Amino acid sequence: MHLNFIAICSEDAVEAVAKELEIYGAENVKPGYKAVSFDAEQELAYKLHLKLQTPSRLLQVIKKGSGSSLPVITNQARKIKWNEFFRDDTTYLVEGVAGDRGPDAPSATDISKAVRMGLEDFYRHKELPVPKVNLKEPKIKVVAHVHGGELTLSLDSTGKSMHKRGYRMENHPAPLKENMAAALLYLAGYDGTQNFYDPMCGSGTLAIEASFMSLNKAALIHRRKGDFAFENFATFDNQLWRKVSDECRLDKREAPLGKIFASDIEQKYVDASRENALRARVEKYINFYRGSFFNVEAPAESGLLLSNFPYGERIGQSDEEHMIEFYKKVGDTLKQKYAGWKAAILVGADTPYKYIGLRPKRKIPIDNGGIACRLLIFDLYAGKKYSAEEAKS
Ligand SMILES: C[S@@+](CC[C@H](N)C(=O)[O-])C[C@H]1O[C@@H](n2cnc3c(N)ncnc32)[C@H](O)[C@@H]1O
Repeated sequence: MHLNFIAICSEDAVEAVAKELEIYGAENVKPGYKAVSFDAEQELAYKLHLKLQTPSRLLQVIKKGSGSSLPVITNQARKIKWNEFFRDDTTYLVEGVAGDRGPDAPSATDISKAVRMGLEDFYRHKELPVPKVNLKEPKIKVVAHVHGGELTLSLDSTGKSMHKRGYRMENHPAPLKENMAAALLYLAGYDGTQNFYDPMCGSGTLAIEASFMSLNKAALIHRRKGDFAFENFATFDNQLWRKVSDECRLDKREAPLGKIFASDIEQKYVDASRENALRARVEKYINFYRGSFFNVEAPAESGLLLSNFPYGERIGQSDEEHMIEFYKKVGDTLKQKYAGWKAAILVGADTPYKYIGLRPKRKIPIDNGGIACRLLIFDLYAGKKYSAEEAKS
């Protein structure tokens, strides 16, 4: 049976999430606002919960219909056979999401209440015990989204946010979120086969996420029993889940398809990256070393260089002059040492990155934890002589 899901993500990650879903064979992949809708059989759905690196959570849609008023919403909720999803002892919470603004639009609280009333009516009508609400640790979270008078009711099947892979320690002041790092890899065109290098690796997030892709290692395979919310669904198929988990473990390659390198100017961050990679159980597949990007040689003939560069204030170089100098050196290094590579660099939108002096083939706006950034993508052709004009642009 086909199930319908919504993958929730940041606005900038939609393209990457859709790409990742297509790669794994999800059907009817439809990008939306901060979400991508898709269909999958139960078996593939379990696999996607383990493997997807770019979304923050997955919602299993159980009903779509009119949400034109609160009584209509209650009526829709009444028609759902809740006992097919809820076990007898299930506690739940309804999260209302108000997608419309305006004086007549229902609030999130109103939506939540309307759904709860419908759910309770269903149980009373069936003369079954009404499940209890638990605001703090519900076994099942129902998400009721109303937008343009349309109601979508879903169950959060993920539980803990999917970016929580379990390898991250508090060992760097400006780490990328794991699912954002994975989205950058997809946006930059990484497919796991190329060599990969992050020359300013901080806590190693990009290299670790790249190693998952290159090893075909499921990012959430180390989650503990009971960590996924779908394990609380009455529809949970434990046998199928174990089969899928075992297959994912077996599908992991012995070695990455491309080589993976990560370095940082600070030894403490090289150590931090190693620690995180060890917790992610990929440390032996990544070559970590200390060095300044401006002094070290390219670690391979070609590959993808992807990095998020320090933001001025965080490295104590907030003045424009230092930043200009920094970006000029980045440009010189790329031109001199990385011909034949593709480079993708995440920079602060208000930094003088044009001093890199190379014309990006793509410039993608990215909101990185509230900081407006740009992902600049460059093709550095082997043998290309860079014109004086390009060097200045
Ligand atoms: C924004 S952080 C990278 C964070 C990383 N993506 C993560 O997820 O943890 C930038 C890193 O660049 C490093 N860095 C600054 N200047 C450098 C240079 N010239 N060469 C190499 N690394 C440098 C800093 O030590 C810092 O760890």
